[in-house]
Amino acid sequence: MIRLDDRLSAIVALVRTDRRICDVGTDHALLPCRLCELGAASVVASDINEGPLRSARANVEKYGFGDRISLVRSDGLKNVPPCDDIIIAGMGGELIAEIIAGCGFVTADTRFILQPMTKADVLRRSLYSRGFEIMLENGAFSGGKAYTVMLVRYTGEKRTIDSGFAYFGLNTDPRYTARVNSQLRKLANSDPSLLDIIKGEDR
Ligand SMILES: C[S@@+](CC[C@H](N)C(=O)[O-])C[C@H]1O[C@@H](n2cnc3c(N)ncnc32)[C@H](O)[C@@H]1O
Repeated sequence: MIRLDDRLSAIVALVRTDRRICDVGTDHALLPCRLCELGAASVVASDINEGPLRSARANVEKYGFGDRISLVRSDGLKNVPPCDDIIIAGMGGELIAEIIAGCGFVTADTRFILQPMTKADVLRRSLYSRGFEIMLENGAFSGGKAYTVMLVRYTGEKRTIDSGFAYFGLNTDPRYTARVNSQLRKLANSDPSLLDIIKGEDR
């Protein structure tokens, strides 16, 4: 069994294994391999760089999923065939937002599983301004750091979100709240109004 850390496990937990799946920026392809272990029949593992695709190929061969995982070199979703569940993890929130903006095959049933390393606030604002909504968010804790993992769908209803929602989203995990609070305290040096949205006991 492939063992994933808490961050990658939280991503896997939100993917529908009976759908067409794509992992954008797959790097090591451990997510696609684990999804195949869980029964996925069709996974595209894509990356913009040849180096990560080499390491992806090595893992796909090691775990014997060459018949179910297609390796594709692609900038974002440009060369990726239509998929139902799209994972974009381990990148900055701005890049994730850009990749989603370039997706040409979104339907009401498409799901995005997103895990931004930075700028989650920029990603949330971009999602809502383009007619997406966050269905749920879970916390994950790996290597001493708290992360958020989002499940997102397209509704077509474009909305502006407030700063509180932009920074915390639907994530109520106290470790994530503490991480965002500490980020807000730093940002408050140039925008003191951000101190007003700090949450919980830290306030
Ligand atoms: C830090 S790794 C994350 C790997 C994995 N998704 C994870 O969460 O552990 C980021 C990967 O995204 C790839 N990447 C960066 N920009 C990309 C883009 N525009 N399109 C596709 N892949 C990209 C990089 O080559 C790298 O392999």
